[in-house]
Amino acid sequence: MTHGSCKWLIPLAARTAAAHTLWSISFYSGCCVMEPKKEDQSDLFAGYRTMFKSFATDAIHIGQEPEQWKSMAVVPPISLSTTFKQNGPGNHAGFEYSRSGNPTRNVLEKAVAALDGAKYCLALASGLAATVTITHMLKAGDGIVCMDDVYGGTNRYFQKVAAQFGLKISFADCTKPELLKAALKNNTKMVWIETPTNPTMKVVDIRACSDLVHEHNKDIIVVVDNTFMSSYFQRPLALGADICMYSATKYMNGHSDVVMGLISVNNETIYDRLKFLQNALGGVPSPFDCYLCNRGLKTLHIRMERHFKNAMAAARFLEADPRVERVIFPGLPSHPQYDVMKKQCTGCPGMITFYIKGKLEHATTFLSNLKMFAVAESLGGYESLAEHPAIMTHASVPENERAVLGISDTLIRLSVGLENEEDVIEDLAQALAAAHPEKK
Ligand SMILES: *Cc1c(COP(=O)(O)O)cnc(C)c1O
Ligand SMILES: *[C@@H]1O[C@H](CO)[C@@H](O)[C@H](O)[C@H]1NC(C)=O
Ligand SMILES: *[C@@H]1O[C@H](CO)[C@@H](O)[C@H](O)[C@H]1NC(C)=O
Repeated sequence: MTHGSCKWLIPLAARTAAAHTLWSISFYSGCCVMEPKKEDQSDLFAGYRTMFKSFATDAIHIGQEPEQWKSMAVVPPISLSTTFKQNGPGNHAGFEYSRSGNPTRNVLEKAVAALDGAKYCLALASGLAATVTITHMLKAGDGIVCMDDVYGGTNRYFQKVAAQFGLKISFADCTKPELLKAALKNNTKMVWIETPTNPTMKVVDIRACSDLVHEHNKDIIVVVDNTFMSSYFQRPLALGADICMYSATKYMNGHSDVVMGLISVNNETIYDRLKFLQNALGGVPSPFDCYLCNRGLKTLHIRMERHFKNAMAAARFLEADPRVERVIFPGLPSHPQYDVMKKQCTGCPGMITFYIKGKLEHATTFLSNLKMFAVAESLGGYESLAEHPAIMTHASVPENERAVLGISDTLIRLSVGLENEEDVIEDLAQALAAAHPEKK
């Protein structure tokens, strides 16, 4: 290591903290060995600088005020009571029945709204409960245009459930905004975008899509599934979307111990309808889960930075390895929509997809030989996970559709956790060696 270039560290780290952009993380994590990035890189994120200014402070303090409790509890209590005493009929202190409103849920919703730069947030019992609640804003005959590559459960709900209630579902590759434009009909009421997609990591330009949809008809509701990015790396509402939703089961909670959904909005009309539906449909989360998710948010910024750092290192390692065919990681310049990523995001989560050289057996041997990574579904927790989409998460997608999406037998998806970077890479290296003993 040469320490000569360390003079870069302080100004860059300071600038990075101010801008909350982690694209230069590869630099400051290895400041003494790597070339500094070009000076003008931070300007790519000028628009985000003010918006993301107090993210960590907000995550820790917004909605958590001790003064809201008689006890002055610094950590919000878990309020299990299903009902709340009224001073006389209809004369209550803001809570009546726990499905309609719950103190612990309120705390979580306030924190998430702040992190999304939103006025309002609603917590639901799962990501899919959030999707169902949003979709209930429509009525029979209304059209939904959905990104062609979305979470399997979203696709299943739209095609196998919502369509039976008379909603008209169509799909478009929103990475090409002109295809989205062509898919809009006079009955279109909602556009559903997911970015990056799972598992092929397609990235959609949220600003371009929102603008063209609203030009077509300002009342069409643009929804972005922000599960992969979390509030820390992407703010869809600031990019023109009407609704930002999450499976909080993943990064937002981040500890693989809660199933939860979240919806953030700014538009009061949309919020009022969703608030009504949260109560009317009843897909609410438990107070204990709200407590856990609220706690998870306190470290969101720290976790996401580490996910990015570890994933960047793992992606670079895999991309340089001769036993790997191709790596898809939105933080690598080789990603087809890298420029869109740099424009609309402040970093990348721990999700990496790669094609191992060879056949199915090479992929399964790789997965069976991982020691630290657990072979498991789901993603976004502190622990590293690996999975085989064609056999596991995307088995329900018909083989011909999988082929179109690029979900082949050699495709492997990683959710890189928060362990030591060296241990992540060592585990990948030894499993690659087991899969390809002939290539050292
Ligand atoms: C997991 C997931 C969902 C569904 O969320 P649940 O909490 O499992 O209901 C939706 N979208 C994406 C991108 C997901 O990864
Ligand atoms: C919507 O479009 C269809 C054809 O695409 C047309 O038959 C119908 O009249 C249109 N409805 C309205 C309200 O414009
Ligand atoms: C809020 O949403 C409604 C319904 O989509 C829409 O008609 C209205 O224009 C929106 N208001 C603003 C201020 O965007």
